[in-house]
Amino acid sequence: MSRTLIALFCLTSIVSSAFAETPAEILATIKAEAANTAGFQGFSAARGETFFKAKHGGEWSCSSCHTDNPMNSGKHAKTEKVIKPMAPKANEERFTEPKKVAKWFKRNCNDVLDRECTAQEQGDVMSYLLAVGQPVAAAPAPVAKPVEAAPAAAHSSHKHSAH
Ligand code: HEC
Repeated sequence: MSRTLIALFCLTSIVSSAFAETPAEILATIKAEAANTAGFQGFSAARGETFFKAKHGGEWSCSSCHTDNPMNSGKHAKTEKVIKPMAPKANEERFTEPKKVAKWFKRNCNDVLDRECTAQEQGDVMSYLLAVGQPVAAAPAPVAKPVEAAPAAAHSSHKHSAH
C-alpha cells in the first residue's frame, strides 16, 4: 500500500469517527431541512407513530421489521435477521451516525413507500422513536430490597455528649 493511501485511510477513519452525533443533533439537522418547506409547523411524535405503524400502499410498514414497540428488537420481514431496538432509550447506538440514518431512511422508505421520506416524515418518526420511553418489563421486576435501618449508634453517641 502506498504511503498516500495509508494516510488517506487514517484520515478517513478520523473523519468518520468525528462525525458521531447525538440523536438531538441529527434531529436538529433534519429540522433545519424541514423548515425550508412551506407550512412547516414542527414535528409530531403522534404523527410519527401513526406513520411508523401504517402501511403506505405496499406490503410493509416500518413496524413490519421494527415491530410495533421500538423498545423491542425487531426482525427483518424477509431475511428474519434480528434488528436491534429502534428507540435510543433501548439502544444507545441509534441515531448517532448521520450517514447511517440517511442511508437507512432512504432504503427503508423506498421499501415501504416506494419513495424517499420527506424531512417532515423523518422528523416525525424520529420524534416518536426518541419519545418512546420505558422498557416493557419482560421479566418481573426484582423485589426491592428493604432499606437497611440506619445504624442506631450514630445517633446515640450524640445523645450522650448532649448533657
Ligand atoms: C424490510 C425491513 C425493514 C423495514 C420495512 C423498515 N426497516 Fe428500518 N431498518 C431495517 C434494517 C435491516 C436496518 C439496519 C440494521 C440496524 O440498524 O439495526 C434498519 C435501520 C433503520 C434506521 C437506522 C437508525 C440508526 O440510526 O441506527 C432507520 C432510521 C430506519 N431503519 C427507519 C425506518 C423507517 C422510518 C421505516 C418505515 C418507513 C423502516 N425503517 C422500515 C429494516 C427495515
